[in-house]
Amino acid sequence: MRKKIVAGNWKMNHDLAETETFFNELKKQMFPEDVEVMIAPAFTNLNHAFTSTREHPIEIVAQNMHQSDKGAFTGEISAAMLKSVGVKTVILGHSERRAEFGETDDLLSEKVNTAIENEMTIIFCVGESLEERKAGTHEQVVSKQLEEGLFHLSDVGFKNIVVAYEPVWAIGTGETASPEQAQEMHASIRSSIAKHYSDGIAKETAILYGGSVKPDNAAEIFGQEDVDGGLIGGASLKVDSFMKIVNAFQK
Ligand code: PGA
Repeated sequence: MRKKIVAGNWKMNHDLAETETFFNELKKQMFPEDVEVMIAPAFTNLNHAFTSTREHPIEIVAQNMHQSDKGAFTGEISAAMLKSVGVKTVILGHSERRAEFGETDDLLSEKVNTAIENEMTIIFCVGESLEERKAGTHEQVVSKQLEEGLFHLSDVGFKNIVVAYEPVWAIGTGETASPEQAQEMHASIRSSIAKHYSDGIAKETAILYGGSVKPDNAAEIFGQEDVDGGLIGGASLKVDSFMKIVNAFQK
């Protein structure tokens, strides 16, 4: 059975005090047994988040990492540093990293290799821009991102991958892909995985949807056959709305 996951991506939000308050509240909540709950706070708060949730079924995730093991890379964070504060999962290829920090498919494939060498789980983001969606090239764009960023991995390496489909035009805009659009792309991603690896691996790979998921649209999106959960930005910043999304999982 593939995993169901609801992951919060806080981006550059919540300082230490806000992080403490959030986790004190989140720890009191009951999660559905079959849903994995993850939160990606800022680097500065990872240590606190991990320590404070050690006894709880909450996975603490990093939003990014550097591809090198160590060295003269001012301002960067390595896989070993993340692991030393308890982080075993990293988001790579978020569209904000691709657009604002020039992360290319080539660079991302290096980061993917480093994360795999460090036995980390990767939430690998893919998604098309509005222009690409309008031009009808969205499936090609996503399939190229998968091929160049991920599909060099061996079968064993690929088992550590969670894919997050995040149409760029839906991130932080209040505009969501319709459940049909999400399902169509998720099915296409799963079939690319089946083609490059196997039906078995494709069936086991969790594919999350991200882009303006909110308490009032989560159930419909998560109800699609190939949608295994969500990567949640804005609505993950408050426990109340995040928990409504976690509980929207009815499959
Ligand atoms: P959003 O962000 O939910 O605020 O649209 C999603 C994401 O960027 O991961």
